[in-house]
Amino acid sequence: MDDEVRIDPWGSSQSTDYSRIIEKFGLSSMDGVAIDSPSRLHRRGVIFAHRDLDTVLDAKRSGNPFGVLTGLMPSGMMHLGHSMVIDQVKWFQEQGGDVTIAVADLESTATRGISLAQGREIATQEYVANYAALGLDAEKTNVYFQSERNVVQKLGFQLGKRTNLSELEAIYGFDGSTNLAHVQAPLVQAGDILHPQLDDYGGLRPIVVPVGIDQDPHLRLTRGLAAKTNWFNVNDAKMGLQVGVSVQEENAQIMGVESSGRVNKETQKEVFSKIVESIQSLGFSDIISNPKHGTVNIPSATSRDKRTVKIALLELERKMGGMGLLAPSSTYHRFAVGMTGDKMSSSKPKTTLFLNDDIVTAEKKIKKSFSGGQATIEEHRRIGGDPDIDVAYQYMMYFFEEDDKFLEEINQGYRAGKILAGEMKQMCIERATEWLSNLAEKRDETAHLIEKFFE
Ligand code: TRP
Repeated sequence: MDDEVRIDPWGSSQSTDYSRIIEKFGLSSMDGVAIDSPSRLHRRGVIFAHRDLDTVLDAKRSGNPFGVLTGLMPSGMMHLGHSMVIDQVKWFQEQGGDVTIAVADLESTATRGISLAQGREIATQEYVANYAALGLDAEKTNVYFQSERNVVQKLGFQLGKRTNLSELEAIYGFDGSTNLAHVQAPLVQAGDILHPQLDDYGGLRPIVVPVGIDQDPHLRLTRGLAAKTNWFNVNDAKMGLQVGVSVQEENAQIMGVESSGRVNKETQKEVFSKIVESIQSLGFSDIISNPKHGTVNIPSATSRDKRTVKIALLELERKMGGMGLLAPSSTYHRFAVGMTGDKMSSSKPKTTLFLNDDIVTAEKKIKKSFSGGQATIEEHRRIGGDPDIDVAYQYMMYFFEEDDKFLEEINQGYRAGKILAGEMKQMCIERATEWLSNLAEKRDETAHLIEKFFE
C-alpha cells in the first residue's frame, strides 16, 4: 500500500483515502458543520471537507455578502464529474452568493496544448451551455477567461514574489525538470481565487472556492500567499486576541520604518491609533496598544471575534494602501468512480458519462458498468451485492436520485441480495435517461442565455 497520500492537480491518479487526506493536509471534516438546507451532495457525504467554511456560513447568516469562485479547464467534453462543482456552486448561489467562474484557458494552453481559440469554443459550447441547462442563474454568474482578465494575471505576478521554488516543490512535488507552465498556472489560479474581493470586483468579502479535492494544493498555496501579504495578523493570545503588525518592504514607510531602519515615532503612533480605532468601532473598549512590540491586545475578545477583527483590519490595510486580501474558504467533493470502476477521465470515453451523451450511448455504458453484484444469481441472492462499489448505484447516489429514502431502500435491498445487479443497472438507466433528456431539453431552452454569463 502506498502510505504517502499525494494530491497532484495535473496527475491521472487520485488518492481516495479521504480521511487520511483530511488529516495530512489539515482540512476540516464536514461532519460537524451545521448546514441549514443541505444539498444532495451534503446529505450524502460527497462534499466531505472544507477550509474555513464557517466564515462564509456566518456571512450568510448575518446577511452579509459573500462570493463564490471556481474554475474550469477547457480541455475536453464536460462529464458528470464536472457537474458536481456546478451542483456546489448552484447551492451557494441559492444561499445568496455572487458567482464568478474562471475559464482556465491559460492553464489549458500551457498544460494541455489547447489553443486559446479552442479553449474559448469548448468553454462556451460544452461548459457554459451545460451550466445554463443545469440551472446556474445567468444574471448572477460571471464567467471570464484568464487570458482576458488582466488583473488576474497581474495579481498572479505580484503574488509570485511571496513564494519560491522550494515552496512549490513542497506543495506540488516539482523538481528541476518541471515545465514552467506548471509554476505559472498555480500563480494565475491564485489570481483567479483572490481577485473577486478586489474593490473593482465586489470588494472585501469572504470568497468560497468549491472544487474537487485535486485542487486543494492551489488553495493551500493561495491561502498562504494571501496571509503573507497581510499587514496585520490576528492571533489567539493568553487573554483574548493579539494583533501583530507585519512590517514589509511594501509598507515599511507607511508603518513608520525609514529606509535607514530608524523608526519614526510619530508615524508609528498614528498607525497604532488607527488600529485601535478600527477595533473600537467593533465595540471593544479595553484595548492595549504596544507600538514598541508591534502588537495590540484585545483581552475581552474571544476566538469567535477573530474573523470580524481580521476583516476590520483588512479594511484598514486597504485604506492605508495595502491589498487587504482575505484567505479564501473552500469546500471539497469526492470523486465519483468511472463507469469501469477506475478514475473518470474525459480522455477515456468508456469510463465516463458525458453531459451530451445520447440515451443509447448512456444506456450502453451503464449496462457495461462495473458491478458490485455476485458472479451468479444464486450467489447474489445468498451473499448479496456491494453498493459501495456498484457503479449503477453510485451514479444514482451522486447524480440521478433525489429521494434519500428510496436510495436507502435499494442500498439495503442490494446488500440483502433482494435486488440483482441487472435490476440495479436498469433503475440507473431509467433515471439517467430521464436526467439526460431533461438536460438536453434545458440546453435548448437556455441556449440564448449563454452570452449573458460572460457579461
Ligand atoms: N485548475 C483548475 C482545473 O484544473 C481550473 C481552475 C483555474 C480553477 N482557476 C481556478 C479552479 C480557480 C478553481 C478555482 O480544473
